Amino acid sequence: MSDERRVTISVIKADIGSIAGHHKVHPDTMAAAARVLAEAKRKGTIIDYYVTHVGDDLQLIMTHRKGVDSSDIHGLAWEAFKKAAEVAKELGLYAAGQDLLSDAFSGNVRGLGPGVAEMEIVERRSEPIVVFMADKTEPGAFNLPLFKIFADPFNTAGLVIDPRMHDGFKFEVLDLYEGKYVVLNSPEEMYDLLALIGTPSRYVIKRVYRKSDDEIAAVVSSERLNLIAGRYVGKDDPVAIVRAQSGFPALGEILEPFSFPHLVAGWMRGSHWGPLMPVGLRDAKCTRFDGPPRIIGLGFNITKGRLIGPVDLFDDPAFDETRRLAQQIADYMRRHGPFMPHRLGPEEMEYTTLPQVLEKLKNRFTDAEYYTKYVHVKLRGVVKEAESEAHD
Ligand code: 13P
Ligand code: 13P
Ligand code: MG
Ligand code: MG
Repeated sequence: MSDERRVTISVIKADIGSIAGHHKVHPDTMAAAARVLAEAKRKGTIIDYYVTHVGDDLQLIMTHRKGVDSSDIHGLAWEAFKKAAEVAKELGLYAAGQDLLSDAFSGNVRGLGPGVAEMEIVERRSEPIVVFMADKTEPGAFNLPLFKIFADPFNTAGLVIDPRMHDGFKFEVLDLYEGKYVVLNSPEEMYDLLALIGTPSRYVIKRVYRKSDDEIAAVVSSERLNLIAGRYVGKDDPVAIVRAQSGFPALGEILEPFSFPHLVAGWMRGSHWGPLMPVGLRDAKCTRFDGPPRIIGLGFNITKGRLIGPVDLFDDPAFDETRRLAQQIADYMRRHGPFMPHRLGPEEMEYTTLPQVLEKLKNRFTDAEYYTKYVHVKLRGVVKEAESEAHD
């Protein structure tokens, strides 16, 4: 196989600061990052690049021949984020440098804050891909759509009628808490798969492979900033790369699950469930209650490593009804205010600032037995006295 056709797509993202709150990346920070990548393209480190954003997350889409986890490419992304963060600091942007958790780059951005989705492929004659990028949610937000794309025949007609997909797909699932992987085959282990990925805060689909030939079909970023940082530093807004057509799901099969604005964890303060709203680039910004969580989808063809495109896939009236439904769901969820299930459950809240508040209340609690015997009896006594006074 000629090296000509072997190409790696790296999508590396970070929140390096944003305008007016966790709202939107500033164009000057994007320009600073783009200058670094333009220079790298000129030098031949990368073949091509595209810089964009969703909400407050700066996205670097790069193609190169260095394989996944390349220190050259990760170092380049780190440099681009650093330069962008310098501009963010100079402009006084909000949370400047938010996701750059360490000052020391040591060959790989994993564990330092940025999110990474990368795949090395052998380019097909035509290589269509979709890059999904979401803000105000977490990597597990891709569990439901990826399951539908690669395992649900009601979504993906090709699973039934295309012989190249008919054997199904393999799902690599990462346990974010234990740092362990399991690979499950669909359709035969579909129920086991669902038993795991139905808990998206813990089990995340990391990669999907076509079962018949182990070709990679999709990859998701799976960094969890809070677990890395040991404190709350914002949600780990995820990205994913999905290959389309010719033995992979058709473009429309890949977009179809996003017509359902499913509930994802994130939104305000990374602490609420809300609908995932697919939007075009012009609406890739979070407003209402810092949301609702948004996702963009950019389509490209990879041609000799070049990025042809993008096309802005959710900038389309076909998703208007989805967006309307998302607004209605947002209204409904918001009316619960600080109550679950709008607010995340206690396990997830562990990684927010809520434990600091709960800590303060700790000493106010009285043991239940003592309370019933003494404190509560005393209160009841007061009630009894009042009652007998009323009868006199
Ligand atoms: P491919 O198998 O060439 O991807 O075509 C499927 C398709 O696009 C049907 O809509
Ligand atoms: P980001 O993770 O997008 O920075 O948002 C953090 C937040 O707290 C929004 O309310
Ligand atoms: Mg932010
Ligand atoms: Mg964000």
